[in-house]
Amino acid sequence: MRILAINGSPHKNGNTVTLINEIFRGARTQNHQCEIVHLIDLNLDYCNWCGECYDTGVCPIEDGFQEHVINQIFESDILIVATPSFNRSVTGYMKNWLDRFCTSQLIYKVDDQQKVKMQSRVPTGKKGIIIVQGCTNLFQETIEPINVVMKVLEIPIIERVIVPHIGLTDDDTVDKKPNVINQVLEIGQNLPS
Ligand SMILES: Cc1cc2nc3c(=O)[nH]c(=O)nc-3n(C[C@H](O)[C@H](O)[C@H](O)COP(=O)(O)O)c2cc1C
Repeated sequence: MRILAINGSPHKNGNTVTLINEIFRGARTQNHQCEIVHLIDLNLDYCNWCGECYDTGVCPIEDGFQEHVINQIFESDILIVATPSFNRSVTGYMKNWLDRFCTSQLIYKVDDQQKVKMQSRVPTGKKGIIIVQGCTNLFQETIEPINVVMKVLEIPIIERVIVPHIGLTDDDTVDKKPNVINQVLEIGQNLPS
């Protein structure tokens, strides 16, 4: 199986990536293929709601989103969406990615009764894992934007990893929490094949 992780943290070796890497470590013991996309590397532009993707599912902004992100997602079996909490929400990188992903991959139609019907362009059969973490224990608003997008795009969530009380200082790193590390390692080891 192919596992793709989207890292919404600006850090490429921070707490978010530690958690992703532990899932990968477990998954590799089962011979799953693992890849990570660091959103900070992509310099993605914002969704400007031009509407051009509506008929095609292809975003016309030429910034690599389609080739590097959508193509990789379509080829993956498991999509990990991971972000630190920033001001109780997802990071700006993650919000931007969620907007681009959802707008380009959601088909919606308004019927005569003004009822909206939605359909996903994402090939069926994929499963999602959400990771959120931060120095508080208040993550409802952080996880919700990810829940919403995964729901409308019909990617069922098989695991939600929520890690409180890390990252207040440089010393508060998740690798010092063996219970958490074991928990995510096991998630990787026990992924469906
Ligand atoms: C701008 C900013 C806002 C933050 N806001 C929150 C917050 O609202 N809640 C929280 O739990 N942590 C908050 N944090 C702490 C980060 O979520 C925490 O340091 C996290 O572990 C960083 O993850 P990373 O190492 O993967 O980048 C904030 C950090 C920054 C820089």
